[in-house]
Amino acid sequence: MSSFNLKAKDHLSTADSKRRFNLSHFTESAPRYDLATRMLSFGRDSAWKQRLIETLPSMEQPFCVDIACGTGDVAFSLAEKYPKGTILGTDLTEAMVKIAEKRNTADNVTFEICDMCNLNVSSDSVDVLTGSYAIRNAPDLRAALDEIKRVLKPGAIAAFLDFSKPENKTMQKIQYGLLKFWGSFCGLVLHANPEVHGYISASIRSFPDRERLQELFRESGFEVVKRESLYLGMLEITLVRKRAGLG
Ligand SMILES: C[S@@+](CC[C@H](N)C(=O)[O-])C[C@H]1O[C@@H](n2cnc3c(N)ncnc32)[C@H](O)[C@@H]1O
Repeated sequence: MSSFNLKAKDHLSTADSKRRFNLSHFTESAPRYDLATRMLSFGRDSAWKQRLIETLPSMEQPFCVDIACGTGDVAFSLAEKYPKGTILGTDLTEAMVKIAEKRNTADNVTFEICDMCNLNVSSDSVDVLTGSYAIRNAPDLRAALDEIKRVLKPGAIAAFLDFSKPENKTMQKIQYGLLKFWGSFCGLVLHANPEVHGYISASIRSFPDRERLQELFRESGFEVVKRESLYLGMLEITLVRKRAGLG
């Protein structure tokens, strides 16, 4: 049995407790994170991430930031798409960043430990920002969107892949139930602890539904450029652009 003994639902109500919970939860899950992701997604995860990369515009030498980069998948794909670009992967959890650094064979990719609400990046400097299963983990979603807006150049793109929460309450309950069951099962198999991946359904509960999320993007100074539904609408890719004229 793992030593991780926190229950997600008791820790997601404030920014500080969610940050602490995530640090502890992702430190525990890091060593088997890649396997867990494949298992949780029935092997679809890398195709979804590839689709995220395909939706990004062609650019010569962009500065790209991948927030909540985990073990580095998206950062490495960004390096392939933009061989002359500069890629920075950032994550709160040291254990994740260490694995990403170990996997890294690209000259143009570096990693850094930092919170997505406080990026160590200059204002108006980023051409492309990505986040896969990222902003759902934000300690404070509005603060994370403000920070993303701060670092992006005006008119620059951010692209996100994440679970998508339906507006319909019955569909929401079905989604929570399925994810709770499958997440707990994976937690039990991989960590002898159902709480480890039980977090997914708990975090979706406190995440805005798809329409509210689009509104939040707009309220935070972004134009929603594209939305693409995956896996019967369970996940979504969202492309947003920082409105020009916003510093
Ligand atoms: C589900 S994993 C996604 C990892 C990776 N993006 C991927 O798609 O495989 C979520 C990641 O968010 C990170 N995380 C959680 N809270 C964070 C925060 N406040 N700031 C930055 N990263 C955070 C975790 O450490 C973890 O690596």
